[in-house]
Amino acid sequence: MSKVAVVYWSSTGNTEAMANEVAEGAKAAGAEVSVMTPDDFSADKMDEYDAIAFGCPAMGAEELEETEFEPMFSACISRLGGKKIALFGSYGWGDGEWMRTWEENCKNEGAVLTHESVICQEEPDDDAKAACQELGKSLA
Ligand SMILES: Cc1cc2nc3c(=O)[nH]c(=O)nc-3n(C[C@H](O)[C@H](O)[C@H](O)COP(=O)(O)O)c2cc1C
Repeated sequence: MSKVAVVYWSSTGNTEAMANEVAEGAKAAGAEVSVMTPDDFSADKMDEYDAIAFGCPAMGAEELEETEFEPMFSACISRLGGKKIALFGSYGWGDGEWMRTWEENCKNEGAVLTHESVICQEEPDDDAKAACQELGKSLA
């Protein structure tokens, strides 16, 4: 059974709702899933999981959340080479620039993106929820 971590940060619950769908998808595909926030996860835990979904909304000016998520993720980035990951998150008024930048950084580190990154404006609708489930399945 593959072990999947879903590591997310969310302020108003939109990315959290996405994380729960990702976890459900991975479970439905047979994975053992742990859902965590940056407090519970760190770079030294990366090797404990076969695949990791990272979720963070657009914050700052098209950036990752800077106090909790970004420091955690920055510490993970040098260990992304060859690692199966997928990215998701909610945004508000932008056009998804934060996700394009984030995805590019992960690709540059040699991460293996198992699914197209899933973004949605504010709360996930049914289509976004379904896409999150598929993303979860792709990690299992
Ligand atoms: C301080 C702050 C900065 C934000 N910056 C952006 C941004 O740069 N681009 C954007 O599209 N949305 C931005 N948003 C909107 C959030 O990404 C959006 O409300 C998202 O749904 C929040 O997700 P969450 O419920 O998981 O916290 C920002 C929101 C806040 C509070």
